[in-house]
Amino acid sequence: MLPAVKDYRELARRRLARFAFDYLEGGAEDGRTLARNVEAWQAVLFRPRALQDVAQVDTGVELFGRRQALPMLVGPTGLNGLYWPRAEEALARAARDAGVPFVLSTASTSLLEDVRAASEGELWLQLYVQRERRIAEDMMARARAANFHALMLTVDTMVHGKRDHDVRNGFRMPVPWTPRLMADLARHPRWCLRMLRQGGSPQLVNLARSSGLSPDLRKQAAAMSRQMDMSLNWGDLAWVRRHWAGPVIVKGILSAEDARTARDHGADGIVVSNHGGRQLEGAPSSLERLPEIVDVAGDRMHVFIDGGVRRGSDIAKALALGAKAVLLGRAPLYGLAARGPQGAAEVLEILRSEFETTLRLLGVTAASRLDASSLCEDHRQRLRAL
Ligand SMILES: Cc1cc2nc3c(=O)[nH]c(=O)nc-3n(C[C@H](O)[C@H](O)[C@H](O)COP(=O)(O)O)c2cc1C
Repeated sequence: MLPAVKDYRELARRRLARFAFDYLEGGAEDGRTLARNVEAWQAVLFRPRALQDVAQVDTGVELFGRRQALPMLVGPTGLNGLYWPRAEEALARAARDAGVPFVLSTASTSLLEDVRAASEGELWLQLYVQRERRIAEDMMARARAANFHALMLTVDTMVHGKRDHDVRNGFRMPVPWTPRLMADLARHPRWCLRMLRQGGSPQLVNLARSSGLSPDLRKQAAAMSRQMDMSLNWGDLAWVRRHWAGPVIVKGILSAEDARTARDHGADGIVVSNHGGRQLEGAPSSLERLPEIVDVAGDRMHVFIDGGVRRGSDIAKALALGAKAVLLGRAPLYGLAARGPQGAAEVLEILRSEFETTLRLLGVTAASRLDASSLCEDHRQRLRAL
């Protein structure tokens, strides 16, 4: 096992073709929101307490009435087949072994039925809504049949953020065979071989099945972005509810007003998120917005957060600021890209162990007992000063 998540990032950078790493890592435009996500965690400082008898610590939390081993989830990321064959199956198994839920993206490169067959662990579905509502309805029906527990509706992706690195690398789907790209591939023969073994370019098979599209990536990708339902609005939560009996979580909230509206429309949870800095450049970091959002969320709605979580101590900070759990985006992908399924599992284990160490050093015996008393009193000012 490598020492830290950042070591897996570095290995992933070396092992992946350049365009694939840039797709994984990159943010929108100049990457300022992306950088802010990572920096924000440094602004919050701990206030440890001594001699609290931390011989036994409990890292677990309850999410929607179910006990999880840790306050974290493997979050939804699309196109994971770029990093490893059968990537979503591997991530779901790693999450199950760590005792946490796995959230499968609409843009997954494995069928949700195959992910369920690979893991009996807790699975949630992330939903993008196309104009043709029957596509999302079909995907929800399939997820219900496959015993997925919760539904996460992503609301910050009405259009795709502008990602300069993809334009620079000439990365489109399907991958165009330009001389620049061929040179990139030639430098990463092991990665190429792995992609060839899985049958070439990964496909958006999940979306293709629900939309009745042919297994042609060009058509799938076009359908995915062109047909995104830009008229989606708060009233549509009632439509989601009609098709989903389990918990419904709205992902991509950055304001207290939207948190209140989500609550008033009966959302069971929200994710404070700027999509890992990949969508609206100039958005604040999710951590900056967390305190004011927690203030209005109330007790009935779970507040999750993601963006820049790379350390177990980040998880402790999120909980101390009132989040119920964090979502991991890039961290498990670094593990997967660096060392395959084993790497994904190792990254989750590093975060578990760092989180447990942090609890002990803080003098807190349970994740559920973390609150603002574990932070320096001026944490709100520090976040505001960012
Ligand atoms: C490569 C990549 C693909 C992503 N795809 C999706 C997606 O399909 N659906 C979604 O809701 N969020 C998606 N996200 C956003 C993540 O769910 C999450 O909000 C973000 O990555 C958290 O930031 P972090 O990567 O710094 O942890 C993606 C993020 C990355 C890095």
